[in-house]
Amino acid sequence: MCGIVAGRTSGAVTGTLTEALARLEYRGYDSVGVAVAQADGTLQVRRTTARVEALVDRLAADPVAGTTGVGHTRWATHGAVTEGNAHPHADCSGRLALVHNGIITNADALRAGLRERGHVVASDVDSEVVVHLVEEALGTGLAAAVEAAVEQLTGTWALAVLDALTGELVATSHGSPLVVAEGPEGVYLASDVAAVAAWIDDFRVLEDGHVVTVGETTTWRHGGHVAEPPLLRRCTISVAELSRELYADFMSKEIDEQPLVATRVLESWGAPAQDGSLWHASGLPDFARVAVLGCGTSLNAGRAVAGVLGRVAGVPTQAVVASEADDWVVEPDTLVLAFSQSGETADVLRALDRVEHRGAPVVAVTNSAWSALGRRADFVMSCHAGPEIGVAATKTYTAQVLTGTCLAIAACVGTGRLARSTGRAMVADLGRVPDLVAQSIGVAMQAVPTIAAATSEASGFLFLGRGIARSYADEGALKLKELSYLWAESHASGELKHGPLALVEPGTPVVAVDDGSSRMQASLAEVRARGGDVIDIGGPGSALPALGTSGGIPGIDWCGPLESVMAMQVLARQVAVLRGRDIDKPRNLAKSVTVE
Ligand code: F6R
Repeated sequence: MCGIVAGRTSGAVTGTLTEALARLEYRGYDSVGVAVAQADGTLQVRRTTARVEALVDRLAADPVAGTTGVGHTRWATHGAVTEGNAHPHADCSGRLALVHNGIITNADALRAGLRERGHVVASDVDSEVVVHLVEEALGTGLAAAVEAAVEQLTGTWALAVLDALTGELVATSHGSPLVVAEGPEGVYLASDVAAVAAWIDDFRVLEDGHVVTVGETTTWRHGGHVAEPPLLRRCTISVAELSRELYADFMSKEIDEQPLVATRVLESWGAPAQDGSLWHASGLPDFARVAVLGCGTSLNAGRAVAGVLGRVAGVPTQAVVASEADDWVVEPDTLVLAFSQSGETADVLRALDRVEHRGAPVVAVTNSAWSALGRRADFVMSCHAGPEIGVAATKTYTAQVLTGTCLAIAACVGTGRLARSTGRAMVADLGRVPDLVAQSIGVAMQAVPTIAAATSEASGFLFLGRGIARSYADEGALKLKELSYLWAESHASGELKHGPLALVEPGTPVVAVDDGSSRMQASLAEVRARGGDVIDIGGPGSALPALGTSGGIPGIDWCGPLESVMAMQVLARQVAVLRGRDIDKPRNLAKSVTVE
């Protein structure tokens, strides 16, 4: 949801900026741009509505010298996708350049005031008003001017301002992520540490209200006063993790990583979950009910974990769509499990306001422990999935389901809802997941190309599941629609006859996460009777025998067939390949949705 970067380096900065922007492209790819301070105190700006590679080509043809600059990759919120609306935005004098991630909700009023005061506000973008507000206060110094400007804003921001005259960079944040890191070759600011991981060992995360100045030295302010820098954190991301290697796209690499990720999660959380020690160490209070909170794929992961809590320990659960949480009545003694890969999803953070107001404890199940969610939660369960670059979540989904399931086991054993022996047996069952996942990917790689080719005329897909498997079917449908741009609906199989069956005509693909039950078979018979094309993910004889039972490894009843999801990930990717889609960057989407 827009990525920003800034750097003050010992050598030319443009290569650094474009390399970091390529790593931030998952946050939006509507346009991209850089601005670099020149020795004569002017700015050189290059922007394009094409991708980062196009910007690199342009800079090769028309190079820009300079060692301090800012860059931005955009996911459009306000204003069409045009070069004029692309960041960086300059002030009237052409001395300042600004990049911004977030949303300024009072931009219209501020723009009107700026125009009355004689500013030329050139774009339709909310962010541009900020650089003019900084310009107005510049007499007090850049850091104080940025403080004065953001005092007038409502909304969210992570922003960096470059002063071409002094070569200084000033950055601040409020509700949007921003890190600062120093390496041997320079100082960097970025929306995500992965963007600069190749050049640094440690980084700091800005808290809301921090203002950092990067000049001859790096200095910090908070609340208008000099402040201590935030905690130094170790960057554990390796450059290899950020490479596509020989894979055609990051999504295929990330699908393949799932057995390894599952092993890593179970090595981290399995032992302390089975005896409840994880729960005791968390210091969390007992609970009467659990609410899982999240958006998109993360909500689907939360639903699977909620299904486990209900099925194995009879815990009342509720799944809350974070973007719809305004009317959520948080009942007393609710434990909230907030699922978010990025930990920066604005809808989740806003829903937390409601939870915090009611005093309910929050566990973050996230791939980014230092994210805003991680910092706000009472306890953090890190998913250990490593950086995920494909916009469609794959390995982080699996990691979240397993991490959340370990937490569920720990909570039930720790509060006496389940015996320790049951906890041990459940964790031993989960030990089969890496092999089940690997088997499912292997089967799908063989079977899916033919199945996907047979759907070439389809205008949409139905997905069916029962019980916990319904949440897996939901995830399959989400993957298919975001990658292939075909509609995909997911339903409880028993609901088919109450309406969705009207969508089935000869050739309609219907993907079934088949639990072998007679009720599922009845639903599939109804589909076949209307000429629907059943893509059965299930036992022997099915089109995609990806489930444990057919591969010799027993499946796990109490958590449903998680391994069916890998088969659906492969199917979604293959259908998208056949339709010529951009696998890692589906249209209109961004990975980290930092606006409501
Ligand atoms: C789907 C996908 C999105 C995200 C959703 C929540 O593949 O990636 O649906 O799951 O935007 O994002 P996080 O998990 O970062 O809160």
